[in-house]
Amino acid sequence: MSILEIIEKKKNGLELNKIEITEAFMGYMNGSVEDYQMSSLLMAIVINGMSFEETINLTDIMLYSGKRLDTKKVEGIMVDKHSTGGVGDKTSLIIGPIMAALGLKMGKLSGRGLGFTGGTIDKLESIPGFRVALTTDEFIFDLNKVGFTECEQTPEFTPLDKKIYDLRSVTGTVSSIPLIASSIMSKKLAVGAEYILIDIKVGSGALIKTKKDAIELANTMIEIGKAYNRTVIPVLTNMSRPLGDNVGNALEVIEAMDILKGKNGSLKDLCIELSSALYSRCRHINLDVATREVKKVLDDGSAYNKFIEFTKIQGGDIEKIELSENIIPIKSKTSGTLKDISAEEIGKLALELGGGRKKKGETIDYGVGVVINKHIGNSINEGDVLCYLYQRDNLDRSSEALKAFSIVK
Ligand code: URA
Repeated sequence: MSILEIIEKKKNGLELNKIEITEAFMGYMNGSVEDYQMSSLLMAIVINGMSFEETINLTDIMLYSGKRLDTKKVEGIMVDKHSTGGVGDKTSLIIGPIMAALGLKMGKLSGRGLGFTGGTIDKLESIPGFRVALTTDEFIFDLNKVGFTECEQTPEFTPLDKKIYDLRSVTGTVSSIPLIASSIMSKKLAVGAEYILIDIKVGSGALIKTKKDAIELANTMIEIGKAYNRTVIPVLTNMSRPLGDNVGNALEVIEAMDILKGKNGSLKDLCIELSSALYSRCRHINLDVATREVKKVLDDGSAYNKFIEFTKIQGGDIEKIELSENIIPIKSKTSGTLKDISAEEIGKLALELGGGRKKKGETIDYGVGVVINKHIGNSINEGDVLCYLYQRDNLDRSSEALKAFSIVK
């Protein structure tokens, strides 16, 4: 069947068989299908969806488009974690060291950020010297030695997903449950972890806006996992507010370290919840026991020590992390109670400051961002500092910043 016929078939809401999906997607991979044809097919998928059979077939094609990690070389239980993305999401940098301190092996391939949500690879690159490009041998060596490794998704692994995801990012075709599920799961399956925690963010600052869609995505990923003999542990978490106080690459690394060193708050609680869910499934223990173990490695500093080992082995020097020194306080113009902080507005602000990419391949400034100074429920007096902007220029962004904070009398 020609690519045109395949597009027409999907446009008419019909199911594609494995041969048709292979022809279209492998055709795109090898260049016989053009960007504009794939964009059109992707849009038809966004509109008409995919059956479970189609989703599995697409996952399989993406998985086998590249190599897979030989997990036999990893000593111990291998776990992985993925977040569907959010503003200020630095949970991997906290959960990875926790898992390593608990004796599990968490190896992650990650991506860069696009738009107002950041990517972990950009955050890690804000640590001077940190190498995000590792060979497979280095990845396995570091994983066996430290227990936590995170590196850039290289062209060797699921290259088709990378090509498709890059195209989706610029053609309005990201928000599709089968496309998201197959994209995430193909990457997770290629790395080979037995237990996969998926933190599905729901809310205005997230890719998935409603609970209904989040549940559908969770179920799709559980089923894909079963088809490949893997345990998928989905956890739905709120993402209408930024995660933690810091948004911006270096600022987020600093906050992750602060949490590992004992800073309390909702971000720490979330990381404990996610880590405990994963740990209890891997060790077949109940959630309370798992939670106690997780808290123990946070309290005794062993998770923080793992973070230090992880950054060192990948060449990073945390002493050299640099932040902009031009710090602008944003003061409230009203008094009342802080009802909400919009993840989307804070994310856009960090993007405007230069901390994110508007276009693929753009360079970003690691040292800029936003530090939120007040929490939901705080009472606010006129003139109180709501947040600080770490910026390089002297533009007045107070009206954009104030938009993020809802204060009620
Ligand atoms: N993250 C991914 O890796 N893929 C998607 O499709 C969406 C979020």
